[in-house]
Amino acid sequence: MSAAELLRGIRVVPVVVIDDADKAVTLANTLLDAGLRAIEVTLRTPAGLEAIRRIAAEVPDMMVGAGSVRRAAQVGEIVSAGARFGVCPGSSPALLDAVDEAGLPFIPGAITPSETLALLERGYSLQKLFPAELSGGVPYLKGIAAPIPEAQFMPTGGITVENAPAYLALDTVACIGGTWIAPASALAASDFASIAELARAAAAL
Ligand code: 3PG
Repeated sequence: MSAAELLRGIRVVPVVVIDDADKAVTLANTLLDAGLRAIEVTLRTPAGLEAIRRIAAEVPDMMVGAGSVRRAAQVGEIVSAGARFGVCPGSSPALLDAVDEAGLPFIPGAITPSETLALLERGYSLQKLFPAELSGGVPYLKGIAAPIPEAQFMPTGGITVENAPAYLALDTVACIGGTWIAPASALAASDFASIAELARAAAAL
C-alpha cells in the first residue's frame, strides 16, 4: 500500500522528537484522544526507535510512522519496531530501494520540480515538502500544482496553527505535519495537558 492510501483522510500529523521513550505511550494516547490518528516519531534521538516500538505495541489505534529516515539500514529497524510508514526530508536511490524491498509505505521529500518528477516516476504520489516555509511554502505549492497536478504534498517545517489553514486549503496538500503540536519543552516537562490542548486545536483544523 502507498503512503497516500494509508494516510487518506488524515490531515494533520504531529512530528515528535522524543528524548524519553517512557513518555511515548502517554503521548500517543493524548494525541489519539484529541482526534489525531497518525504520528511521526523522528529518528533524531536515541529514544526514537524504542518510542515507535512502544506505540506500535501499546497504542494500536495510533498509526505510528518513523521520520527523518535517512539511511537504507534504518528501514529494517523501523519495520521491526512496528512503524507503518516512513518519512524522509529527501530521498536517495539506495533508500528508496530498501523501502521498495520492505514494502513500506513511504513519503520521500522533494523541493524542486525535478525531484518531484523523479519521485512520481518511482510511484510516490505523496511527497514531503521540507522545510516548507523556507522552500517557498504556500506560493511554491500553488506554483507547482499547475504544471504537475498529480503530485500531492505533506508540507512540514515552519507550520503553525496560524499558517496551517492556508496549506490545508490547497488541493495539492494531502496533509501537513509539524512539531508545534507536541513541543519539546512540553514533552520535557511532561505537560500532557498543554499537548492535549494543542492537539485538539490541530484536530479541528
Ligand atoms: C520535520 O521533521 O518534519 C520537521 O522537523 C518539522 O518541522 P517543525 O519543527 O518546524 O514543525
